[in-house]
Amino acid sequence: MMVLPDIKREVRDRNDIVDIISSYVSLKRHGGNYVGLCPFHNEKTPSFSVNQRDQYFYCFGCHAGGDVFTFLQKYENMTFPEALKFLADRAGVALPEVEMTEEMKRNVNRKKQIFEALKAAENFFYQQLRSERGALGKRYFEQRQLTDETLHKFHLGYSLQYSDALVNYLRKKGYPDDIILDAGLAGHSEREGLYDKFTNRVMFPIYDPAGKVIGFGGRVMGEGTPKYLNSPETSFFEKRKNLYALQLARASKASQFILCEGYMDVISMHQAGFTQAVASLGTSFTPEQAMLLKRFERDIYLAYDSDHAGTDAALRAISILRQTGLVARVINMQPYKDPDEFIKNLGAEEYQKRIDEAENGFLFEIRILRKNYKTDDPAEKTKFETEVARKLCVFSEELERENYLNAVAEQYGIPKDSLKKRVISEAAREGLKSAQERVQIRPVQTEKKSNAEEHAKYAQRLLLTWLNEDRSCFTRVKEYISAEDFTDPLYRRIAEKMFADLEAGVFRPVEIIGMFDELEEQEAASQVFQTKLGTEVAKEDKEKALRDIVLRVKQESFDQASGTLGSDVNALNRVVEGKHILEKLRKIDRI
Ligand code: GTP
Ligand code: MN
Repeated sequence: MMVLPDIKREVRDRNDIVDIISSYVSLKRHGGNYVGLCPFHNEKTPSFSVNQRDQYFYCFGCHAGGDVFTFLQKYENMTFPEALKFLADRAGVALPEVEMTEEMKRNVNRKKQIFEALKAAENFFYQQLRSERGALGKRYFEQRQLTDETLHKFHLGYSLQYSDALVNYLRKKGYPDDIILDAGLAGHSEREGLYDKFTNRVMFPIYDPAGKVIGFGGRVMGEGTPKYLNSPETSFFEKRKNLYALQLARASKASQFILCEGYMDVISMHQAGFTQAVASLGTSFTPEQAMLLKRFERDIYLAYDSDHAGTDAALRAISILRQTGLVARVINMQPYKDPDEFIKNLGAEEYQKRIDEAENGFLFEIRILRKNYKTDDPAEKTKFETEVARKLCVFSEELERENYLNAVAEQYGIPKDSLKKRVISEAAREGLKSAQERVQIRPVQTEKKSNAEEHAKYAQRLLLTWLNEDRSCFTRVKEYISAEDFTDPLYRRIAEKMFADLEAGVFRPVEIIGMFDELEEQEAASQVFQTKLGTEVAKEDKEKALRDIVLRVKQESFDQASGTLGSDVNALNRVVEGKHILEKLRKIDRI
């Protein structure tokens, strides 16, 4: 039997990371690397780099990074075994039975079991809706005029009134309690133990873009709160990164996606033939969702409620879409509130007309803005026009800005030249691409622990980077530093492997990244090899800088060991040896 690291290495070596990533991201050669626009955050200048020699990727903007497996796990939302299989098939490598470490087995098994439990729950709810006990749910959906075909297409279901129906079902199928809990399907109380999270609700399974069940929304039948209950947020069910019905809508032939507010809106749109409809998952539209849609290169039409809240939500979505480089249009559903009502009253043909007539997102913004000003008053008119000019500054490309300027000038009877002058003066004041327009994708969490700890970690990271970039200094460094001196647990694991591999002369960064199972760890490991010195250091100062870093790492290790003298038997050795080395290091100014 082959061990997993071997097969992983073989599959990785047979799939060039540049080939794989180029099929998703357009890359250009730049020095020894390839660079492109990062697919994991929105940007206009490339900070995403793929290192062909070392076979890993790293983004200087959002710090996403890892090997070819990490990339597929992040981009395609694959699990590691899925990515392995995909790449093995692609390269024609037959996957043998592999021997995994206990930890890997446990991890892979847990994830697999969680997804299986979710799938089993989906089936259970589906069956219940179609059984006698599901009559209430069935009646509810009939009231909402959903056909059997639609119920099937969305795998809609029903959760029973009993508080342990699903838990018992899953237990009987052999799922342990912790899996049921981690799948987000149950709650836990001291008195009752596990109880069903969803009871007496009609159930909407939620899928990732590839069609895997990752969670549920459950709606009360009629009045009641909360109206919708959603699965809890977990590492595999991240509301801000998924969209309802995208697994179906991506297959539609339409040239746009229609973004709705609710599950029911999406479902009635699909039933009426608009299979390009999707919705966010009960939260407002996010930059991550925009990035996800961007992959499909379609325009985005908004079908948000026509009330005040819906309009506000649409304005926010338009801004996010624009920053992601997507064209937004707004579908007018007056006099109805949402697509569901509109289609029930006026039908699909009429709705198609509204799609064809959808208003450009920017012009929609200006029209809403206009309502705040009484433009028959010259002072108000001036304010409005200034505000329009300010908004036009979000377009940093001249041609695009010109086109919008012309359209707005025409629509509101503003002389083009005067509007243009005002744009120029506004731009001079604020700069094009006003700062408020820059929504940020959640930056990678740099743990906000104590400053001292951050500093210690930084020194350790620098040392690892240094060793990677200038492998010849390893023989000198190892006289002072061993893997044990890395106080950060992740860095210690990296250092252990790195020191062993450097010693044996077989060091490759990608092997280090591949040691870790969790995406977060893989990212942290890629970051280690990309940490930059604050300033460019002259060659001569470099030697001194190296000694300073070594000293800092050693000092931190010494301090930590001194702090645990009573409780840790290894600490005494580290302290005695550390004291000796520190004295030596303080006497020299280079190593
Ligand atoms: P209907 O009102 O039955 O037509 O459903 P809808 O999907 O149109 O719901 P609505 O327009 O009220 O809300 C839009 C979306 O917001 C829903 O699809 C849910 O995703 C979310 N939502 C609504 N109410 C709640 C709630 O009480 N809790 C949570 N978590 N999400 C909600
Ligand atoms: Mn609604």
